[in-house]
Amino acid sequence: MTGAAAATTEGLRAQCLPRGVAIAPSLLACDFGRVAEEIAAIERAGATLLHLDIMDGHFVPNLSIGVPVVKAVRRLTELPLDVHLMLDNPAEYVAPFRDAGADNITVHAEVLDDPRPLLDRIRELGATAGLSVNPPTPIESIEGVIDACDLVLVMSVMPGFGGQEFNPVALEKLRWLRDHPRCRAVREVDGGVNSETISACAQAGAELMVAGTAVFGAGGDAHTGGGAEDYGARIAELSRLAERGAR
Ligand code: DX5
Ligand code: ZN
Repeated sequence: MTGAAAATTEGLRAQCLPRGVAIAPSLLACDFGRVAEEIAAIERAGATLLHLDIMDGHFVPNLSIGVPVVKAVRRLTELPLDVHLMLDNPAEYVAPFRDAGADNITVHAEVLDDPRPLLDRIRELGATAGLSVNPPTPIESIEGVIDACDLVLVMSVMPGFGGQEFNPVALEKLRWLRDHPRCRAVREVDGGVNSETISACAQAGAELMVAGTAVFGAGGDAHTGGGAEDYGARIAELSRLAERGAR
């Protein structure tokens, strides 16, 4: 993690989940034309980390940002960077994204026969290692490497775009992770998380909730925007609902 916190699951929890659950604003939905202001506003809004979506146009039908933008974001904030690699060949990019400033690096199980070597490599580079599963992927498929995960990212949409509808298939996977005796990973959920869906995610055991549209407003080109006050109110409301659901 940025600063002194070691790249461990415990360090990840201590730095990003001081209240047990936290919102991870996804920059995919921000106004990249004002990214410095957007990040400053998110910091003032009380976010404990930032979620950055890296898309290659192959694993997902969209292209987003790459290493240069992560480097720029790193210069703009001390917040931990939760980097979500939606790439066909993540092994080639974990080192460049770690060098760019990623604190957590999440790769997709769908493109890895055996995720363990890459998860171990990510930790050797000094980041925490996350593994993600898409809605059609059975959570049982990662049981053999569950002990090697500092974080598991359960997708509640097919990755590629913000603003999609939440798929409740994620809830059973979150419960499976919470109840699994060998799972110590931070449980993160991503896609369509908003004030209507976040309580169910927290009740199912999600600890880290990625929120793009729900924080920044309609993401990307339909940007409704806002400032720290809007982002702060939205993060506070989402956090309140998540903490209530987690009880
Ligand atoms: C989708 C990304 C998500 C997305 C979330 O491929 O992985 O992180 O940005 O956006 P919302 O919260 O708008 O669904
Ligand atoms: Zn994501």
